[in-house]
Amino acid sequence: MLSPVLLSPWAPFMPDAKSDFAVSIDNLYGFIWWTMTFFFVIIVFCSIYFPWKYRRGPNPVMTPRITHNLALELTWSGIPALLLIIIAFWGINLYVKAYVSPGDAYEVNVTAKQWLWQFEHPDGTVESGELHVPLGRPVKLVMSSVDVIHSFFLPEFRVKSDVVPGRYTMLWFDPKVAGEHQVFCTEYCGDSHSAMLAKVFVMSPAEYAKYVEKFLHPEPTVENGRKLYQTAGCLTCHTIDGTVLVGPSFKGIFGTPQPIVGMAPVVADENYIRESILEPQAKIVQNFQGQQMPAFKGVLNDDQIKAIIAYIKSLK
Ligand code: CUA
Repeated sequence: MLSPVLLSPWAPFMPDAKSDFAVSIDNLYGFIWWTMTFFFVIIVFCSIYFPWKYRRGPNPVMTPRITHNLALELTWSGIPALLLIIIAFWGINLYVKAYVSPGDAYEVNVTAKQWLWQFEHPDGTVESGELHVPLGRPVKLVMSSVDVIHSFFLPEFRVKSDVVPGRYTMLWFDPKVAGEHQVFCTEYCGDSHSAMLAKVFVMSPAEYAKYVEKFLHPEPTVENGRKLYQTAGCLTCHTIDGTVLVGPSFKGIFGTPQPIVGMAPVVADENYIRESILEPQAKIVQNFQGQQMPAFKGVLNDDQIKAIIAYIKSLK
C-alpha cells in the first residue's frame, strides 16, 4: 500500500504515483507549491490594496517618520529562512534517496542510442524498448549513452536522469504492484527523439519466468516479428508504409533487389536481412547512412531474427 499524496496540486496532471518515493516527491513539491502560493497571494494583495488605500487624496495626511521595527524585521526574515531550511533538508533527503539504491536491488544496465533504449539484465539477456522485471525487488538502472545525451524519465516513479556518453548515471525505483509504466526520453537527441520511448513491465515472478522463455525463443510468426519490430526499436528508423525516414522502409523490400553502395544490387532475402541486423555496415543501401544504425549482434538472437524476417516478408 502506498501512503497517500497529501499536498500535491500537480497530482491531477501527472500519472498516479506508483512508489513511496513518488509520493514523497509529490508531497515535497506540494509543500513548496502551497508555500509559494500563500506568499504570492499575500504579496500581490498588499501591492495592489495598499497603494490604492493610501493613494494621494484631496487632504493628504503626512506619514509619521518610521526608522525600523526590530520585531517585524526579525519575523519577516526568520519565517522565510526557516521555510527555506525546511525545504533544503527535505530536498537533500529525497535527493539522496533518489540516487542511492538499496543494496539488494535488481541491477539492469541501460544503454541509450539514437533512438532506442536497451536493457541488459544481470544474466546477460538484452531487451530493447521494453524492460521486464520481477516484482518484489527494487530495480537499479546503471545507464550510459553511446552517442549523444539522452534522458531517462519514468514519470510514475518520479525519477529522471540524464544519460550521458562516457559516464554512468544511475536511478532506482521500487515497484509495489505489477503493471506497465511508460518511459520517455526527455533530452532532445535528434530526428526521432519523440519516438524514443520504452515501457517498464513489472511482473509476478512466475509470470516473469514464463515471459523470459518466450522472449528468448519466440515462434517465427508475423505477430512476434511485429512485436520485435516495435520493441527492438526498428520502427524509429524504418517505416512499414513506404515512407522514408533515416533508414529505408520495410514495405515491399523482401525478395527485391536493393541498390547497394559500392557493389552490385543485392536481393533482400533472409541472409541479407540477418546480416543487415547484425552488421548494419556490411551492405548499405544507396542514399542512406548505415553508420546511424546500431548493430544488433548480441542483442537479438537467431530465433528473434527469424521472427523479424517473417514480419518483413509479410510487408508486401
Ligand atoms: Cu533520446 Cu531524446
